[in-house]
Amino acid sequence: MFQLQPNIMKRSFLSETDFSLAEIEAVFQQARQLKLHRGKANQPKPLDGQTWAMLFHKSSTRTRISFEVGIHELGGRPMYLDQNRLQMGRGETIADTARVMGRYVHGFVIRTFDHALLEEFRQESGKPVINALTDWLHPCQTYTDAFSIAERLSGEGESMTAALRGRKVAFFGDCACNMAVSWIQIAAILGMELRLSGPAAYAPGSQVDSMLQQAGLPVNYLFTEDPKVAAQGADVLYTDVWVSMGNEDEREQRLKAMRPWQVNTSLMALAAPNAIFMHCLPAHEGEEVSSDVYQSPASIVYDQAENRLHVQKAILCNL
Ligand code: CP
Ligand code: NVA
Repeated sequence: MFQLQPNIMKRSFLSETDFSLAEIEAVFQQARQLKLHRGKANQPKPLDGQTWAMLFHKSSTRTRISFEVGIHELGGRPMYLDQNRLQMGRGETIADTARVMGRYVHGFVIRTFDHALLEEFRQESGKPVINALTDWLHPCQTYTDAFSIAERLSGEGESMTAALRGRKVAFFGDCACNMAVSWIQIAAILGMELRLSGPAAYAPGSQVDSMLQQAGLPVNYLFTEDPKVAAQGADVLYTDVWVSMGNEDEREQRLKAMRPWQVNTSLMALAAPNAIFMHCLPAHEGEEVSSDVYQSPASIVYDQAENRLHVQKAILCNL
């Protein structure tokens, strides 16, 4: 049986910045061990006897299922809650819901629209809260993305975060969405070179730079409307849906505006030799990514999806 490293003792995981670089390295190493030893006897059960509430205000396949499986495998009990079945859906305040639930459960996994709801839950419940996606950030996904790149670049026992330093990531499409903002933050923490490309109307907002400055991180990402400039020599081409959850009313205008930023074979041809394609999923083949790129050997989307389980288990071990 492998030993878990001592707990880092963080209370919540709302943003990429909630772990230091050294702590991210520890989380990645734990995730690597958990992946290697999954299913073997005598696995660690740090959540033994615990119940974790999973409150989802938006749809989910990967996040919900990987957290339910992960909490179970760590010895805990996941409790999935649909907001429409809670009194919160009938007007009970967030504060009261958090205060009451905090007396029952050991932690929360929350997917919602407004990032402030997570802050309020953390404040009022007194229990750890994990961000399972908000309109602002999706840190479980970017930690997993970085891990998925690093596991290809580093051997067992080698530093995974060091392997990422200086690597070039190009992000295409909606550069103001949660995935883009989260990528800006994780790239700054890990010292990766990030270029984003999309229509000017969907460029990262000024609040992104404020977020970085407040966290003491460098503002050194590049935004360009020219997808070729972003793709040139990149190690990773990354995209996300053009219509995020909550933006459905803008579907037609978004599809029209972002069409020139589809990741396709012409864009992949500009990237570095052995460049990989990544997507957080769900994907819309033929929209943000062409089918030939999505289905190509360069695409590691299913490894990414699998790694959500291992990385989130490592995050849970450290709360
Ligand atoms: N990538 C991701 O978070 O997927 P789900 O929306 O299916 O959870
Ligand atoms: N930007 C997407 C990410 C889905 C995982 C959304 O918010 O819908």
